[in-house]
Amino acid sequence: MMLVLLFVMVCGVYICSFCLKQISTHTKAKSLNIELMDKPCHHAPSIEQWEVPYVHYPTPQTFNREECACNPVRFFVILSMQRSGSGWFETLLNSHINVSSNGEIFSVRDRKINISSIVRTMNKVYNLDWFSSASKNECSAAVGFKWMLNQGLMEHHKEIVEYFKKRSISSIFLFRKNLLRRMISVLSNSFDRDAKLLNGTHKSHVHSPVEAQILAKYRPKINATLLIPELKQVEETTAKAIEYFKTTHHIVLYYEDLVNNRTKLKEVQEFLSLPYKELTSRQVKIHTAPLSKQVQNWKDVEKALKGTSYERFLKRSLPHTLNIL
Ligand SMILES: *[C@@H]1O[C@H](CO)[C@@H](O)[C@H](O)[C@H]1NC(C)=O
Ligand SMILES: *[C@@H]1O[C@H](CO)[C@@H](O)[C@H](O)[C@H]1NC(C)=O
Ligand SMILES: *[C@@H]1O[C@H](CO)[C@@H](O)[C@H](O)[C@H]1NC(C)=O
Ligand SMILES: *[C@@H]1O[C@H](CO)[C@@H](O)[C@H](O)[C@H]1NC(C)=O
Ligand SMILES: *[C@@H]1O[C@H](CO)[C@@H](O)[C@H](O)[C@H]1NC(C)=O
Repeated sequence: MMLVLLFVMVCGVYICSFCLKQISTHTKAKSLNIELMDKPCHHAPSIEQWEVPYVHYPTPQTFNREECACNPVRFFVILSMQRSGSGWFETLLNSHINVSSNGEIFSVRDRKINISSIVRTMNKVYNLDWFSSASKNECSAAVGFKWMLNQGLMEHHKEIVEYFKKRSISSIFLFRKNLLRRMISVLSNSFDRDAKLLNGTHKSHVHSPVEAQILAKYRPKINATLLIPELKQVEETTAKAIEYFKTTHHIVLYYEDLVNNRTKLKEVQEFLSLPYKELTSRQVKIHTAPLSKQVQNWKDVEKALKGTSYERFLKRSLPHTLNIL
């Protein structure tokens, strides 16, 4: 009896260890397989050593990258604020045949509800499994999206910085220097959300001078008491964002510089290691009149800002030839 029991036990142990060995060789094969699938590509000699972490070869679940499977892909994110030219900037980037900037994906509440949904959404974008009108799919050399500071970015900055570093995502800050002009644009855009001046549809960006003229007819009234605290708040938020994300690979751009200096667009393409292309946008600038003609109570605004550090916002900007925002 005892002997039989012992025999059964020994057999059991033997079978078990055999099973475990099988499982372990199985998983070993599997992980090897994954490695093989993840690294089928050799870095091109043009890729320098420091760049290696920033070069990715995604394997999307929804399609095959075909002949571009071994084209390296850079990951980026545009960090900006509403009415700072990021819509226009994104159309410029997307005019590049190898760039997919997928828009303001975190304007949707469910995607930014907590850090796990944020990460899930970003994984999909950077795995090239996100579809938008901007998707270039197979032959993307840079993929990203635009993220407004008030869309969960600041609340979850710690985890997001960690994610950006882990996945080597490059941040493109895009801000506007003249925050008074930005404020006028915010007020007008928010007015149009209800007024819907263009035949009953609200538009934040337009593609014809006629539409721009109609939208520019509205002149907001600025609360002069709140003006300085609000400008200060925007300035502080911007500074805080740069502080939070400064340890990621990044570039800081200003809308005004992009408008006045075409070389800046070249710098952006170099930052993303893209083959150089002329970038174009069909968007038309809405507010072209002198600043003093864009608000109802210009005298109040002038009085509030004169003698403060924000006085510079009152100055006429240089005329420019590009049509923007
Ligand atoms: C995040 O939100 C989703 C959807 O509401 C929920 O199912 C999930 O449990 C949440 N996760 C955490 C970590 O809170
Ligand atoms: C850019 O896209 C073109 C056309 O799809 C493709 O032939 C080329 O290899 C891509 N370049 C890069 C750097 O991915
Ligand atoms: C508004 O609709 C009218 C008639 O359909 C059209 O002629 C006009 O161009 C439209 N205006 C704009 C700004 O879309
Ligand atoms: C400006 O805003 C403050 C605070 O909301 C309010 O008390 C004040 O009446 C406003 N002034 C004008 C002229 O609307
Ligand atoms: C335009 O931008 C380039 C690249 O950032 C810079 O080197 C150059 O000084 C700028 N030119 C002017 C006139 O500001």
